[in-house]
Amino acid sequence: MARAQSRFVCQACGADFLRWEGQCRSCAAWNTLVETVVTVRSRDRRPATAVPGGVAPVPLSAPAEAPISRFPTGLRELDQVLGGGIVPGSLLLIGGEPGVGKSTLLLQVAGGVAGAHGGVLYATGEESAGQVRLRAARLGLGAGPAADAVAVLATSEVGAIVEAARAARPAVVVVDSIQTMTVDELDGPAGSVGQVRESALRLMELAKGEGIAVVLVGHVTKDGSIAGPRTLEHLVDAVIELGGERGGVMRLLRATKNRFGSTDELGVFEMGEAGLREVADPGRAFLAEHEGVAPGSVVAATLEGTRPLLVEVQALVAPAGYGTPARRASGIDPTRLALILAVLGRRAGVGLGSHDVYANLAGGLSVAEPGLDLAVALALASSMRDRRVDPRTVTVGEIGLLGELRPVSGLDRRLREAARLGFERAIVPAGGRTPAADGIRVVPVGSLRDALRAALLPSDEFAAIPIEPETRVLG
Ligand SMILES: Nc1ncnc2c1ncn2[C@@H]1O[C@H](COP(=O)(O)OP(=O)(O)O)[C@@H](O)[C@H]1O
Ligand SMILES: [Mg+2]
Ligand SMILES: [Zn+2]
Repeated sequence: MARAQSRFVCQACGADFLRWEGQCRSCAAWNTLVETVVTVRSRDRRPATAVPGGVAPVPLSAPAEAPISRFPTGLRELDQVLGGGIVPGSLLLIGGEPGVGKSTLLLQVAGGVAGAHGGVLYATGEESAGQVRLRAARLGLGAGPAADAVAVLATSEVGAIVEAARAARPAVVVVDSIQTMTVDELDGPAGSVGQVRESALRLMELAKGEGIAVVLVGHVTKDGSIAGPRTLEHLVDAVIELGGERGGVMRLLRATKNRFGSTDELGVFEMGEAGLREVADPGRAFLAEHEGVAPGSVVAATLEGTRPLLVEVQALVAPAGYGTPARRASGIDPTRLALILAVLGRRAGVGLGSHDVYANLAGGLSVAEPGLDLAVALALASSMRDRRVDPRTVTVGEIGLLGELRPVSGLDRRLREAARLGFERAIVPAGGRTPAADGIRVVPVGSLRDALRAALLPSDEFAAIPIEPETRVLG
């Protein structure tokens, strides 16, 4: 009988050690080593090759291979994020916080794939088969040919899933969730790094060996303390994250890794009674619907991958009490916010050093794109000066340290979308080619100062306050 071995496995990076240590020597995380009892060592087995058809060298001039075949999931937005659909034999990971809608999404995918492209095995260690059937009924997948072609298997044993899949040969196997799965030979609890890794390795063998696409669900917690997606990321072909605002209806899908496509595309869904629904007009999904616009609201024309997305930035500035003024950002990179605040103060005469600052994006979106800078700056200045920005104006531009505006990529595409959605004026960085966009007046500005002048509407109450203190001195 093999003697059980005890290893200390880092919950952050998966490295294992013979002895406990306070800090992981591999990734330098603290207090992440957890004792795991192993009788079979996963590292003794080499993962199946990711390249089907052997490893012989080929000249660059060799004829091109056939394009990767894919099948659609039935959800257009997901297909776009994946790069066109699911690749047979691939291993996917769908991550997201509990309750965001991962099981819902995958049950809908199961319904979309089943029948049209082959059967689906939906294995769940989270719920009973009855609970899954209840959800299927709510999603309108309770009966019909697609429902016949989805088999639900309530188990947490990877061996049982692999066996069922080899027998039924479905097109897709869903494993909900990888944290509930165990392999018999390991003694560690479900969710430990050892179990998660070994389970994923065996499911990868199933995927590559049988040409069955395997989709793993992975829970991500805020502190990332459980063994999960982070240790799996290097193993899988694609990592798709499902996110969205808690309590809100918008759901966002993004690939953070994709061997078969780009990681730029964003999928947009609405969560409802009948599950995740594609949004008819994603370009406008992140524009808050409201009558009349208050100071602090500015629309940015952003670009997510190939998709132009108009998003409302909302800012509130208020005099701070004692202590360090608050800086709260949601959906906006906090270091970017800090830079914008500094430039506003030093280069544009809008000092916010003694004010609390709150800034967020409508609809729970987060945007890491520099083209958002100008809208954030204008929203802050608009709130500070209590002057509105015309709601039919969109803005785009990266802000430099000198207060200059820098050009952004894809300006034409952004402005065409803005024009389509009824915006009438666009404040954009000067320099470079002036874009052609029908039906929208383009206002090129060179600096944040000029942008403030162009964007903030005069108000009776505050018209007396000049934008730039220097102008007052000179004038
Ligand atoms: N009856 C319902 N009507 C509308 N939405 C529901 C209903 N039941 C569940 N939901 C939505 O589904 C979400 C749970 O989805 P689920 O797929 O179980 O999430 P996950 O698998 O990521 O934990 C809930 O947060 C809620 O938004
Ligand atoms: Mg679930
Ligand atoms: Zn580590």
